[in-house]
Amino acid sequence: MHARIAGTGSYLPEKILTNADLEKFVDTTDEWIRTRTGIESRHIAGEDETTTDLAEKAARIAMLDAGVGPEDIDLIVVGTATPDLVFPNVGTLLQARLDIHGCPAFSVEAACAGFLYALSIAEKFVATGSARCAMVIGADTLSKMVDWKDRSTCVLFADGAGAVILKATEEPGIISTHLHADGRYKDLLLYPDGVSKGFKKVRAGNVGVIMKGNEVYKVAVNTLGALVLETLKANHIGKEKIDWLIPHQANIRIIEAIAKRLDLPMERVIVTIQHHGNTSAASVPLALDAGIRDGRIKRGQLLLLEAFGGGFTWGSALVRY
Ligand code: ACO
Repeated sequence: MHARIAGTGSYLPEKILTNADLEKFVDTTDEWIRTRTGIESRHIAGEDETTTDLAEKAARIAMLDAGVGPEDIDLIVVGTATPDLVFPNVGTLLQARLDIHGCPAFSVEAACAGFLYALSIAEKFVATGSARCAMVIGADTLSKMVDWKDRSTCVLFADGAGAVILKATEEPGIISTHLHADGRYKDLLLYPDGVSKGFKKVRAGNVGVIMKGNEVYKVAVNTLGALVLETLKANHIGKEKIDWLIPHQANIRIIEAIAKRLDLPMERVIVTIQHHGNTSAASVPLALDAGIRDGRIKRGQLLLLEAFGGGFTWGSALVRY
């Protein structure tokens, strides 16, 4: 059995924060943000709007798109680093909202690579016959974790959710997935607090995402460059076979560098960073849904998905849409 993408959906919060808005409260410029990152604006969740709220909206659209109801879904896997609660997990909260009962529902923590991790896990459930119709989500509200006084990170991160419904089929579908991690890089990109750290920094009110951007940049380009080539090699296919690159949207310069490794013109890369910013685990499914909905990505085409995030974690998927 194989897993095929039967439907997609996405959701972005209503509030839009432009670079000009940021200029008003942090020492930055539209020019710096656009030239260094490619970001022009981003969507920010409301004060009471949670990751599950965003995920629910994306999930409902994906279910409609795939023509499935709550009774059809037999697995929910959510990639997120920003759960509403410590427990129940976002998958379970989502399950209740969607009136789905009894099937496994869980979240995976892999930062920006969370969706690729979730997709890979769900694909294996479907391929082994353990699930026939899986919901895979990437959803994050990183805006709630950044220090809005830190110009080096607050201009980058944003909120959103993307959803994919996988169905069991005889033909692939998701042809292969490739996951990696290396915890030696933990200090280059992290949120340095949590439950068993006692939320001491959160209580003191001085915590945000910490990133050594320059160093992350270098490792990201090299690692993703190797990952896309690994994905092609594992499937014995040449670069020219890829119809669309659907990359993690962290920085336009990283995206362009990976497209170059694949000899792909930018016209065959789905770029949403200008309007989405870095939405962490939501970034790849948001871009996938955008490309499908505006008609660029067509049934039967070959897609290469990739993402890289804190940990470091990184992953790719070769997909026949
Ligand atoms: N506005 C104006 N100036 C700024 C800003 C800002 N928002 N932020 C930093 N600067 C300044 C710095 O202080 C520095 O000034 P200095 O030269 O006087 O010291 C200068 O700009 C250059 O800073 P760099 O950090 O060297 O800038 P760089 O060109 O590397 O761009 C960026 C920074 C955009 C963060 C880039 O390094 C990057 O994209 N890194 C990778 C991010 C990534 O891929 N993350 C992984 C995924 S995210 C996840 O997993 C959650």
